[in-house]
Amino acid sequence: MKPYIFITRKLPENVISKLDNRYTISMWDKEDVPVPRQRLLDEAQKADALLTMLSDSIDEEVIKAGSNLKVIANLAVGFDNIDLAAATEHGIAVCNTPDVLTDTTADLTFGLLMATARRLVEAAEFVKEGKWQSWSPLLLAGHDIHHKTIGIVGMGKIGETVAKRATGFDMEILYHNRTRKPEVEEAIGAQYVSFDELVKRSDFIVCLTPLTHETRNLFTADVFASMKRSAIFINASRGPVVDEEALLAALKNNTIAGAGLDVFTIEPISADHPLLTLPNVVALPHIGSSSVETRETMMELCLENIDKVLTGNDPITVVNKDWKLQLSH
Ligand code: DGY
Repeated sequence: MKPYIFITRKLPENVISKLDNRYTISMWDKEDVPVPRQRLLDEAQKADALLTMLSDSIDEEVIKAGSNLKVIANLAVGFDNIDLAAATEHGIAVCNTPDVLTDTTADLTFGLLMATARRLVEAAEFVKEGKWQSWSPLLLAGHDIHHKTIGIVGMGKIGETVAKRATGFDMEILYHNRTRKPEVEEAIGAQYVSFDELVKRSDFIVCLTPLTHETRNLFTADVFASMKRSAIFINASRGPVVDEEALLAALKNNTIAGAGLDVFTIEPISADHPLLTLPNVVALPHIGSSSVETRETMMELCLENIDKVLTGNDPITVVNKDWKLQLSH
């Protein structure tokens, strides 16, 4: 019997077909609707491998259901949707897609910063809605980006690449990270500062830190209160890193000037969410790594990781490096 791979979303046939002859592959048949929970549990029971999305909750229940499961390949660099401890305990490799999405996600993050600062979405809508009656001196005037201070919270590879983008805009670059990165300081001229100092000094606060126990609700009302009134907050990591109620209040009360958000506490955010009524918010549907090229490369990497594990080899990009220690099946 061929090993069985279940993919929790409809992916392009050309990507899947490369593995077709050696595996039985089945996919949830919808592109834009997540697999129902019961189907996920049923499939986990049968599968040797799962290819999952960041929107699937791969918790202990799913992992326990997967008595044959050997590998979970998540189509994202983040893996906060997966119970890593449970997977490790059951000897299941958890793989993600780092590196291949770094530039694409950095592009989106910097683009979101620019769109928010220069009010690009508002301006484009203004034209399309026929509101442009005349040129005027302060029409949709935004905030400068060049020569300002950017503060990057979470200096992983994406953070570094955003910092590289910022050098082209002659920005002062501050960063905060769990560990200091002397090589980035040297190469890009970024300055390591405490979280408090970063928040106080930055014109653009860019959040790229992974969601962990330590970073959940990192951005509180007090943090927004200590930002400049002209500050713009950008979040391209995970929604729960931010106290969304506090952010909403800070934007409404002009405690800060604006926010560019690719991620939210609950995704998809509901269309009547109060954040979406604010003109100084640019909201995107979690598209950080979403270019055609990069998404295809991410899918291929997921499948390569699955293939490696199912043929008894080490996966290319594994998150729980100790997965084999517990191997019991
Ligand atoms: C990821 O891969 O974790 C990002 O959120 C994609 O946009």
